[in-house]
Amino acid sequence: MVGTVADSIHRPCYVVGGFVRDLIIGRHSKDIDFVTVGSGIELAEAVAAKIGPKCNIAVYRNYGTAQLHAGNLELEFVGARRESYNRNSRNPIVEDGTLDDDIARRDFTINAMAISVNGDSFGELVDRYDGLGDIARRIIRTPLDPDITFSDDPLRMMRAIRFATQLQFTIYPETLASIARNAERIKIITGERIKDELVKIMRSPKPSIGWELLQQTGLLAIILPELDALRGVEVVNGRGHKDNFAHTMQVLDTVAERSDKEWLRWSALFHDIGKPLTKRFDPAIGWTFHNHNFIGSKMIPRIFRRLHLPLGAEMRYVSKLVELHMRPIALVEEEVTDSAVRRLMNYAEEDLEDLMLLARADITSKNEAKKQRFLDNFDLVEEKFVDIRHKDAELAYRNPVDGNEIMHIFGLHQSPLVGYFAKNLKQAIKDCEIEPTREASIKYLYILGEKAGIQPVNPPLYPLDSDQCTTSPND
Ligand code: CTP
Repeated sequence: MVGTVADSIHRPCYVVGGFVRDLIIGRHSKDIDFVTVGSGIELAEAVAAKIGPKCNIAVYRNYGTAQLHAGNLELEFVGARRESYNRNSRNPIVEDGTLDDDIARRDFTINAMAISVNGDSFGELVDRYDGLGDIARRIIRTPLDPDITFSDDPLRMMRAIRFATQLQFTIYPETLASIARNAERIKIITGERIKDELVKIMRSPKPSIGWELLQQTGLLAIILPELDALRGVEVVNGRGHKDNFAHTMQVLDTVAERSDKEWLRWSALFHDIGKPLTKRFDPAIGWTFHNHNFIGSKMIPRIFRRLHLPLGAEMRYVSKLVELHMRPIALVEEEVTDSAVRRLMNYAEEDLEDLMLLARADITSKNEAKKQRFLDNFDLVEEKFVDIRHKDAELAYRNPVDGNEIMHIFGLHQSPLVGYFAKNLKQAIKDCEIEPTREASIKYLYILGEKAGIQPVNPPLYPLDSDQCTTSPND
C-alpha cells in the first residue's frame, strides 16, 4: 500500500534499516522505517490520507520525519539525507540526498540495506556494503571508516556492542579498534540513551558479551567505573585473588540462563560491586573482602541514579539482594539449623527464591567436589524452607499454648490481656526469638507476665513436652 501511494506521487520508496535486517535474520519487528527520495513528511501525509481516519500521524518537521500509527504497526517516514543519520541530533536536517547517501551514513552494514516498495521494482534489495554477507558471517561492521560513523553519533559505539550481544555477532576488528579509540566521545551522549542500550544488553540471552566488550573497549571505565574496577588479579606474597569481573560475568550469565527477571540480572551484575573497596590482604589468611555485600548494597542508589535506572522498588530489590547474597552460603558453611533457615526466610521475605537462585549461581568454584557440596547443602536448605512453611501454616492457627491455657496459668478471665499474651507469643515464634515448642512458649509467657506485672498462679494445663493443643483451627 505504501508502494502504491509512493508510485502515485512518483516517489522512490524503500523499507530500510532494522526492519530489513530483522526480516533477513528472521526476527520479528513491528516498526517499519521507510526512506524516500524527497520529503518523508509529504509521503507520510499521503499514506495517512489513504489509510483514512483510523491512522494517527505525528510530524517532526525539525527532524524531517513523520510517524504513522495504524493498528499495532508503527511506520516511520524519512527523506533520504546526505548528512549524518542521527535522529537524536538537535540540529535540523537540512541536506537532502540520494538513497546511496542515506545508506552510507547509517550505523552498520546489517542496518544499511533497503528493499524497494515501488511497483516496478518491488522487493528488490539494495545492499551496497554487503550487509547480507555480514549477517551470514555474523559480523557488526560500519559501512564507512568507523571513525566517521562513530563521530556522527558516538552512541553507535554502544549500539555496536548491543547488537553484538543481542545477535551474538562479532564486532569487526577495525570497528572494535575504533570504539576503543573513540570511547571518550561517549561522554557527549545523554545518560538516558546509554541506559536504553544497557537495558537491551541486560535483556539479551548472554549479557556478558556486552559487558565484556564495554570493558575491553574502555567504555565501561567511563560509564560504570565501579564495575570496571572488578577487573584484574592482584598478587601479594605469591597469593592472588580471583578476577572478580570474570566471576561476575559467569554469575550474570548463569542467572540469565535461568531467569528472565531483569532486576535479578542487575543484582547478579552488582552482587560483588563492593569488592574493590573492601579488598585487603591479610598475611595470615590471604585476600579478604569483609562487608563487601553491605558496602555494595550502599553503592546501588548512586549507581542507579547515575545510570538513569528506576529508583523505586527495583532499586530497593537490587540493593537488598546485593546485601543478602552471602547469607545462603554463610548458612551452609555453618550448621543448617531450623532457626538459621528461618532467619534467612525472614530477611529475604518474598525474594527468597531469587536470592537462592543468585546464591547458587554465585558458586563458580572450579573444584567440582566443593561446588557440589555447596549445591547439596542448598538443596537441604530449600527442603527446610518447605518444612518450615508447612509448620508455619499450622502455627498460623496453632499456638503451642492457647488462650484457655493462658487464662488458666495467669488466673485471668477473658480480656484483651489474654489476646496480648497470645499475639506476642505468636510473633516471638515467627521472629525466631524462641523455638516453637511448649517449653519455650511457657517460659516466654512468664517473661511477658513479669513485664506486665502479672504472676502465674497455676501450672500449665498439659505436659511441657506434649504437642496437645485445644485451640480450634480458626482460633
Ligand atoms: N540508525 C543509525 N544510527 C543510529 C540509530 C539508528 O544509523 N544511531 C539507523 C540504522 O539504520 C537503524 C535505523 O536507523 O537500523 C533504525 O534505528 P532504530 O529504530 O533505533 O534501531 P533498529 O535498527 O530498528 O533496532 P532496534 O529496534 O533493535 O533498536
